[in-house]
Amino acid sequence: MKGLIVNSFSLPGGTWTLGDMTVTRVGYGAMQLAGPGVMGPPADRDAALAVLREAVDLGITHVDTAHAYGPGVTNALIREALHPYPGSLHVVTKVGATRDEHGGWPPAREPDQLRRAVDENLESLGLDTLDLVHLRLGNAGGPQAGSLARAFETLVELQRQGVIRHLGVSNATAEQVAEAQSIAPIVSVQNMYNLAHRHDDALIDRLAAENVAYVPFFPLGGFSPLQSEALSAVAARLNATPISVALAWLLQRSPNILLIPGTSSVSHLRENVAGAGPSLSDEDVAELEKIGGRA
Ligand SMILES: NC(=O)c1ccc[n+]([C@@H]2O[C@H](COP(=O)([O-])OP(=O)(O)OC[C@H]3O[C@@H](n4cnc5c(N)ncnc54)[C@H](OP(=O)(O)O)[C@@H]3O)[C@@H](O)[C@H]2O)c1
Repeated sequence: MKGLIVNSFSLPGGTWTLGDMTVTRVGYGAMQLAGPGVMGPPADRDAALAVLREAVDLGITHVDTAHAYGPGVTNALIREALHPYPGSLHVVTKVGATRDEHGGWPPAREPDQLRRAVDENLESLGLDTLDLVHLRLGNAGGPQAGSLARAFETLVELQRQGVIRHLGVSNATAEQVAEAQSIAPIVSVQNMYNLAHRHDDALIDRLAAENVAYVPFFPLGGFSPLQSEALSAVAARLNATPISVALAWLLQRSPNILLIPGTSSVSHLRENVAGAGPSLSDEDVAELEKIGGRA
């Protein structure tokens, strides 16, 4: 359904500037377009292509991906659906993990692995320059302490060479974010955060003061959907779905939060874009704070 929302400025939350790139705060996370376990092709390839085209038709200008999704599958779908990319669209990617034969995500942060991953993303997306590359740290269990300098400096060098426009970090501790910023400017941090996982509250506030975006992954709980009585109660009061309230809460939580909810369904995509809109009252927010143990 073309034209449901006619331009980026009418999307909930408006826009944010990543360095010199304007993106809609409501974006789209493409990870789950690959097959089960984010490996191999999707069951319904045409449906996956339709989701990507609908995202752009709805006015979304921020699509999050990685060559590791599939691997190569999600990026190939994005290229097929959307290339040549509209000038307003920013395809954001990440490097720092690869895939093994069991579908695991082993780290791949040696300089030659990072250079190869950047090349793979350029090739699979059909681009000469990647708009924003996150250095993905830690492992599937979450962030891990330790210096990122060697890996991050490799990406800084690629940025100097012109193949990366802007840098970010992902799955990072607050100390690693600060270490990256001591080496080169970053425009974005992509970490796990949602109503039930609030470890990064202080980091979000610090980044907001510095005009750095915070992009929560698993905004809907990822592979374990968010469920809570408080969420259902607020949703019922607003005559909305719990997913809509979870997204609206993120948009309201801080102006630097950008949404990249994932879905492999056009109808869920439409629901999520429209659903991020409701304005939450102080009472709603106070009730939702109980989920993260803040009240
Ligand atoms: N940096 C990192 O390390 C990292 C890690 C994980 C993810 N990410 C990024 O973050 C993005 C978001 O994460 P995610 O997609 O894994 O998790 P998510 O956005 O929290 O949740 C996605 C799940 O919610 C379901 N869903 C979405 N909208 C729905 C709706 N309206 N009604 C019912 N179910 C709905 C989807 O199923 P359906 O397909 O059926 O809609 C999917 O199973 C990813 O796409 C990826 O780009 C980054």
